[in-house]
Amino acid sequence: MCGIVGILGTKPVAADIVDALRRLEYRGYDSAGIATLENGKIGRRRAPGKLRNLEDRLRESPLDGLAGIGHTRWATHGAPTEGNAHPHMVGDVVIVHNGIIENFAELKQELIADGATFETQTDTEVVAQLVARARAGGMSPREAVRTTLARLEGAFALAIMFRDEPDLLIGARKGAPLAVGHGEGQMFIGSDAMALAPFTNRITYLEDGDWVALTRRSMELYDVEGRQTVRPMSFSQVSSNLVDKGNHRHFMAKEIAEQPEVVGHTLAEYVDFAERKIRLPDKLRFDFAKLDRLTITACGTAAYAGLVAKYWFERFARLPVEVDIASEFRYREAPLPKNGLAIVISQSGETADTLAALRYCKSQGQHTLAIVNVPESTIAREAEIVFRTYAGPEIGVASTKAFTCQLTVLACLAIGAARQRGAISAEKENELVSALVEAPRHMAEILKQEKHVADIAKQISHARDVLFLGRGINYPIALEGALKLKEISYIHAEGYAAGELKHGPIALIDETVPVIVIAPRDELYEKTVSNMEEVAARGGRIVLLTEADAAGAAHDRFERISIPHANPFISPLLYAVPVQLLAYHAAVIIGTDVDQPRNLAKSVTVE
Ligand code: M6R
Repeated sequence: MCGIVGILGTKPVAADIVDALRRLEYRGYDSAGIATLENGKIGRRRAPGKLRNLEDRLRESPLDGLAGIGHTRWATHGAPTEGNAHPHMVGDVVIVHNGIIENFAELKQELIADGATFETQTDTEVVAQLVARARAGGMSPREAVRTTLARLEGAFALAIMFRDEPDLLIGARKGAPLAVGHGEGQMFIGSDAMALAPFTNRITYLEDGDWVALTRRSMELYDVEGRQTVRPMSFSQVSSNLVDKGNHRHFMAKEIAEQPEVVGHTLAEYVDFAERKIRLPDKLRFDFAKLDRLTITACGTAAYAGLVAKYWFERFARLPVEVDIASEFRYREAPLPKNGLAIVISQSGETADTLAALRYCKSQGQHTLAIVNVPESTIAREAEIVFRTYAGPEIGVASTKAFTCQLTVLACLAIGAARQRGAISAEKENELVSALVEAPRHMAEILKQEKHVADIAKQISHARDVLFLGRGINYPIALEGALKLKEISYIHAEGYAAGELKHGPIALIDETVPVIVIAPRDELYEKTVSNMEEVAARGGRIVLLTEADAAGAAHDRFERISIPHANPFISPLLYAVPVQLLAYHAAVIIGTDVDQPRNLAKSVTVE
């Protein structure tokens, strides 16, 4: 998604703005731009593609202003061309924007009818036009922004500067995140604390509907009702070090390899290793024993973590669970039980649909629990209780270590819930926790097979379509394997419950379609193997993921990736790793942009 940076500085700001934009690169973008104020003029440079293109422009033609705004654009309205790249300028106004102005078409019509001409296909330009018109009509910058904001519908964050106001930077937030950074005689604005970390750790997060007028020495903040207000300043823990790839070729490779370590860190937060018990925080304001139902919402990979959790909570805690993708859940006005518990799961903590689902659940009187990786994110700040994943910064667009850390937290919660509900004995808790703490070691074993997985990925890389099959608790891992493969290699892939195959998808099977079968030695193993034989009988090319000691002559006929023998309870954590590796190596062989695949964003702040 788009990234926003603004600086009121004491020295030329262009280089710092580019540095901050680099820290927002992980969000995904397809063009970038910057504007600074210098000697009563607005200087602007923009470029399609990566930040290095913008840097080339700045080298050819530097900007020296002491105040400026910058932007990485993830195109929504209009192709990712230089002309559509932000900042957008109309008259004395220059503006960057993240999000979508939903009523832009009617505003544009109105402006055109009033004589305005448009240079871009973006929705953003209507905002610049409205502010510029208000200014031309004699309004002050603050008044012009305030009246413009009142006309905008949608979810957005904005940073706005004025040619003749070199000590003024206005920011606004509705739906999309925006933070203010406080410096010494300097002020900053950014999409997140990570962008601002090199400059300051003193951060004020805007709340929904807030807008703020900054000078180098002051901050005036207004809430959604237009009342001047104060928001707390917090000290961000985000490191100013730019996360690097270490010895890895891609962030995704590094993040896959980190999983034994970060799953271990996450376990350390929620497990009493000596007692082999789950530690639930005392501050829980709900009792799992009193719940009739649990509602889990999330998007993409995080939703698949929720789907795995459904199996865990229902089986071990005997607690019915409803899982839905947040983009559907938020609009279907689901009736929710009184005092129920809603869990939202999000790596970024900024996903627009998941945030909306959280707010809906709050409005329906639910207790809310967020599983997030970014502790200062909007979802973390708005949920009643936060269970952090300790994955560390995840930069690759494809979620890997965040997913297994989400599974880890959910497994702990499910065991904790089972204990509170009296659904498992102390011995059973002991057994499950003992299995869980073994997960990092098993994951490390699986990672040792990377070369073998890469060889199999080579065969898959020629396919047009790939199917992933799993059953029970590993059905969501089949979905996740397919999502991973398609998002980074662009090979069409689908995940299916193995038992569902003969209800339609089996028609796709021929010798050109690799079928990845996820089959741990659990109570459904034989059934999955039968489904696999149905595929083999129709010429499908099978890659079997199962335990090293899984017997059966049939298996020798297929490509095989051996997974260590473990309690089936933790199998989703283990089988996630080879499907990630398959996707990664297929993408590397094909030569796609693994960490920033086309059309995708890391942090999806629009719906
Ligand atoms: O930040 P979130 O966990 O809320 O993001 C949710 C999805 O956008 C995310 O998992 C997405 O599906 C990934 N690209 C999957 O690899």
